[in-house]
Formats: sequence, structure tokens, C-alpha cells
Amino acid sequence: MINSVRIDILTLFPDMFAGPFNESIIGRAVERGLVHISIHNLRDYTHDRHHTVDDCPYGGGVGMILKPEPLFEAVESIKSAVIQRGEATPRVVLLTPQGGLFCQHIAAEMANLKALLLICGHYEGIDERVREHLIDDEISIGDYVLTGGELAAMVVVDAIVRLLPGVLGADSALNEDSHTNGLLEYPQYTRPREYRGWEVPPILLSGNHAEIARWRGEQSLSRTRQRRPDLLARDSDTKAKREN
Ligand SMILES: C[S@@+](CC[C@H](N)C(=O)[O-])C[C@H]1O[C@@H](n2cnc3c(N)ncnc32)[C@H](O)[C@@H]1O
Repeated sequence: MINSVRIDILTLFPDMFAGPFNESIIGRAVERGLVHISIHNLRDYTHDRHHTVDDCPYGGGVGMILKPEPLFEAVESIKSAVIQRGEATPRVVLLTPQGGLFCQHIAAEMANLKALLLICGHYEGIDERVREHLIDDEISIGDYVLTGGELAAMVVVDAIVRLLPGVLGADSALNEDSHTNGLLEYPQYTRPREYRGWEVPPILLSGNHAEIARWRGEQSLSRTRQRRPDLLARDSDTKAKREN
């Protein structure tokens, strides 16, 4: 039996997801039933003629704030449909620049969930009661501000789906990917052996697998030290905490 994951996404702009989710590796994972992705339009959970989802901020100020009612109704309705079908209750995650920083480690944790519901914000903000009483987690994809949560949701879904069993081929080296073991990946080359006078490192042509593995390990470490020393510091902090 296929062990698939269900991802629901709540958004004001459902059409934005068509390209990224229908193409390439994610598209194939959807086709093969390894992941079920459902996009829900927040406006479908409004009751007025204009499908109003936002209003002015109390206390004044610029921009519009997403109202609580459609968000609560949408999440409750998606959850109750899931429960009626006897499926796992989704973890509800708000995409926001105020959330914890998304990383490979969190992607791996999320890839173990059975169901996930992502909420994409838009405009100036979201009524704080949504944060306080509706969601389980808040995730940011980086220390910058996007116009909406849609691109952030796509990033999160992409990073999770490629980790699901069966999505990448059996020959893929997920364990060697950058950020999987706290290091950046080693340099890689393909044919031709020489291009514009630039040669492939001879060790990679030696056929000596033990030496190649050793070279790759060294390269991975020196590249991380050079480009992202913060990753090594973080790793030794974690080790020190574990040992104490
Ligand atoms: C213009 S932003 C609102 C930013 C808000 N005024 C603040 O300062 O926290 C609109 C929406 O884009 C999404 N968003 C923006 N930046 C993001 C980020 N770095 N990570 C995840 N979502 C983000 C969130 O869903 C947010 O509600």
C-alpha cells in the first residue's frame, strides 16, 4: 500500500499553485499518489455578496488585515471533512515572516506527518486571534517579507515532498544533500572531462571509491568551513549540549 501524505493549502490565490505543483518531481509525486495536495480558496468561506476576507486594522494604520471568521471556518471545515473520512487530523501551519525559520531539519520532521494544512497570509497581516487559537505552528522561509504566503507554501511543500519515500529515485543521495548532515555538499562534475581547459579533479576519474569518498568528505567540510562556518558552530553547539 502507498504511504501517502495529505497537504491542504488555504489561499486567496489558488491559481498560483498550478505550475509548480503540476510539473517535474512534485507533479509526478502527485500523479503517483505519493502526496495529495488540495488547494482551498479562502473566499469560499465567506458569507457576504463581495466575499470579503479582510478589513481595516483596529487602532488605525495602513493596509488590510485578514478577518478571523473565514480562516476559522475554513480550517474547521477542512478538519471536519478529514475526520469524517477517517483520515489523520492535519497539523495547521501559518506561513509568516514572524515564524520559526524553515530548514532541512524541519522539512524532514514535516515529511513524517500524515497531514498538513498550510495557511497563506496576504496583505498587511492576520487577525492575532488566528495565531492564538487556530494554528499549531508558524513558519518563515527567511528573514524577508513576501507579498503573500503562497510562494512560501510552495517552498515548504517542495522541500517536504522530495523527502517522501518513493518520490526521488532509489539512486538519489538524499543523505549527501547540503544541510542534511549539517554540511554543504561536495563539488560535482560531469562530462566532458576537460572543458575550456578546466579539468575534472583526477581523483574522480581514479575509480578508487574509498579515496573518492574521502575526498568528497574533505571537500564537504572545507566548503562548509569557508562558506557557512555558522553551520559548523551550530553543529558543535548541538553536540556539546548532547554531551552535557
Ligand atoms: C506582506 S506579508 C505581511 C507581513 C506582516 N506585516 C509582518 O510584518 O509580519 C503578507 C503575508 O505574506 C506571507 N509571508 C511574507 N513573508 C514571509 C516569509 N518570510 N515566510 C513565510 N511567509 C511569509 C505571510 O503569510 C504574510 O501574512
